[in-house]
Amino acid sequence: MIHIRDLCKRFGEKEVLRGVNLDIVRGKTTTIFGVSGGGKSTIIKHIVGLLTPDRGEIVVDGIALSDAKSLYQIRRKVGFLFQSGALFDSMNVKQNVEFPLIEHTKLTAAERNRKIVRALELVGLKPSEAMPLFPHELSGGMRKRVGLARTIILDPQALLYDEPTSGLDPITSDRISQMILRLQSELGVTSALISHDVKESFKCSDYIAMLFDGRIVEYGDSAEIAASQNPITRQFLEGSASGPVTFDG
Ligand SMILES: Nc1ncnc2c1ncn2[C@@H]1O[C@H](COP(=O)(O)OP(=O)(O)OP(=O)(O)O)[C@@H](O)[C@H]1O
Ligand SMILES: [Mg+2]
Repeated sequence: MIHIRDLCKRFGEKEVLRGVNLDIVRGKTTTIFGVSGGGKSTIIKHIVGLLTPDRGEIVVDGIALSDAKSLYQIRRKVGFLFQSGALFDSMNVKQNVEFPLIEHTKLTAAERNRKIVRALELVGLKPSEAMPLFPHELSGGMRKRVGLARTIILDPQALLYDEPTSGLDPITSDRISQMILRLQSELGVTSALISHDVKESFKCSDYIAMLFDGRIVEYGDSAEIAASQNPITRQFLEGSASGPVTFDG
């Protein structure tokens, strides 16, 4: 569904991506592991056109990301959950989740309402309680789940989740993982996930890619990655401070 070829990106002196090659397989969930500051969010932002590559190519569902028109087509197909949730502060939960429906569909208010209720339930929020609240009245975890509800509201073919479970309790995290699995099995959604949460990632990933030093250094199905002998992957899975991955890398 998504092909990333030789993606390179530098910010000033810092070469963050040095030739990333990755395929996100249709109808499956692929997780990108990597250390904080390693460039995971940077990869995802390229897929939705928030950043332009220095070099390399991105193709989404056969459309090469090249101009404004291709970007518009891709944005209709791909939903993106920002790491921070990125809610509109001046809108309540209902308005936040409703926003993409107003922008992109001709649904009636009643039809929109049905979708909003369903999306909020999917992410484990009580619609009647959550809808009137404004972002500043939400906990961090609730904000993330409202962001998630807004991401899935247009029934995208592909979903990109940047840290969907970070900052959430283990039970809510499990619920989000179950939701990702359900979207995949019931709707055939393609997902790309960025996560530090090794346990949750193994629950819902078909494939895992390990990003290190600006490149994908290992890729495999989750069983292969769980049994990996690659010292970088092992260090990440075991959460060890000692190994080839150092704090500046
Ligand atoms: N717009 C930008 N301008 C300048 N530097 C940036 C920009 N976006 C990212 N960076 C830098 O690129 C590097 C990678 O950032 P990125 O957000 O992709 O990391 P990450 O792997 O998602 O980390 P985390 O797990 O902490 O979210 C960091 O050093 C960051 O400072
Ligand atoms: Mg990030």
